[in-house]
Amino acid sequence: MRERWTWRGAFVVAAVGSAVGLGNLWRFPYVVYDSGGGAFLIPFLVALITAGIPLMMLEFTLGKKFAGAAPLAMKRANKSFEFVGWWATLAGFGIITYYAAILAWSLRYLWGAFSLEWGSDAGTYLYETVLGIMPVLEAGTYGSLGGIAPGLIFPFILGWLSIFFIVYSGVKGLGKVVMITMPLPFILIVILMFRGLTLPGAAEGLNFYLRPDFTALLNPQVWLAAYGQVFFTLSLAMGILIAYASYLPKDADISNNALMTSTADAFTAFVSGIAVFSVTGYMAGQLGVPVGDVVASGVGLAFVAYPEAISLMPVAPALIGVIFFVTIFTLGLDSAFSLTESVVASVMDKFNMTRKKAATLVSGLAFLVGLIFISRGGLLWLDQVDYFLNNFGLVLIGLFTCLLIGWGYGAHKIREAINEVSEIKIGVWFDICIKFITPIVLVILLVLNFIERIKDPYEGYPGFMQLVGGWGMMAVFIILGIVFMLIKTKEKPQAEEGEV
Ligand code: ALA
Repeated sequence: MRERWTWRGAFVVAAVGSAVGLGNLWRFPYVVYDSGGGAFLIPFLVALITAGIPLMMLEFTLGKKFAGAAPLAMKRANKSFEFVGWWATLAGFGIITYYAAILAWSLRYLWGAFSLEWGSDAGTYLYETVLGIMPVLEAGTYGSLGGIAPGLIFPFILGWLSIFFIVYSGVKGLGKVVMITMPLPFILIVILMFRGLTLPGAAEGLNFYLRPDFTALLNPQVWLAAYGQVFFTLSLAMGILIAYASYLPKDADISNNALMTSTADAFTAFVSGIAVFSVTGYMAGQLGVPVGDVVASGVGLAFVAYPEAISLMPVAPALIGVIFFVTIFTLGLDSAFSLTESVVASVMDKFNMTRKKAATLVSGLAFLVGLIFISRGGLLWLDQVDYFLNNFGLVLIGLFTCLLIGWGYGAHKIREAINEVSEIKIGVWFDICIKFITPIVLVILLVLNFIERIKDPYEGYPGFMQLVGGWGMMAVFIILGIVFMLIKTKEKPQAEEGEV
């Protein structure tokens, strides 16, 4: 018998918990920053409406209807679709390996926040004390690992133990934990937003955040970043939402849940942006420089600019520091265990493995691979892998899902299944998005980005990094997905685990 959510509402709380994560507070502000500021909000909204919401409804339906994690659900839609489910599972696995490393940074910072350990120079703190990357940068040996960063091993173990025990405890345990990990960070972000907005200079930061610079819209990279960000932030194409929906009863609502999840996520991203950029504006004012100069590196926005600004704050800076890093950790934790759950559920379905064994195997393996990202040179690998997985991996999986399910299985059948159970009925626009708009946009973006990356390696990192952490990784995932599909195992009949 398949596990089930133990209380009404557990699914949507867990889905929001998964969606709202580091993507909102760590990734979103820096992608906005890297994409020329506020102009990014326009492609972000377009991507949310044309791809994010329809695909979320599709994933919810697949999981619920076929009562399986991504590979099994795709297989039940059509035997030859299973590989795409594995691609999603593998993307989820790839992401969790570095996601847990960022959780480790946040725990390390949380420890430091009590004494505001970074002082006025969070850049040096991040690169020297936390990441230990200076020897790699100084020697110019980009791509070398240089051993584990001493400051990160303990937080990394602690982070993984939390993820492991939650996933190990099953759907019942997940349902309980999300009652805290979903609302808590949200409340904290709102507190941080008010703190930010009441600082002098906040308006300058918000001006940078919200001022549309329409020329950025002509750059295909900005659009690609928007689609990549929408996939990441809504937990799409990682198998998570399919696995979570597979624990739903047959009559559960789809469209309402999808709208609630995506709105809550987009709203949190927007509010996080206000929290981060208002503080950036304050700091720029204190230092007498333009907002655009406050951060040297986008990735460091939450871990450099924000902590630095905290130490300049007039009232209770340590408290704000603690709140900020508790927020990052709790935001990330429920996304981290949802990523792990996606892989664990896929392995359990395919290999008839017990949850305890699958959770141990998957967490153990992801922990070991993740050591790369807490090595001294790990930040560069993290950036490289994050870029490829999001901008090629998730986009490719989204494209295949649209094509196979939209055309092969039938978008109208998914729509009918949604309308049978949902309060809000959806129209033909759904079929049009899944069959035409989303795939066309994704193909254009993939081709343009492919050309771009062939011309210039990402961030000018050495060719072997692009090969190993980019094209090579993608090729391995593509092949592994097909290999997993070809492995024959005994599948439980759907009635036995799907019906209630
Ligand atoms: N959706 C998760 C996040 O935004 C993965 O962090």
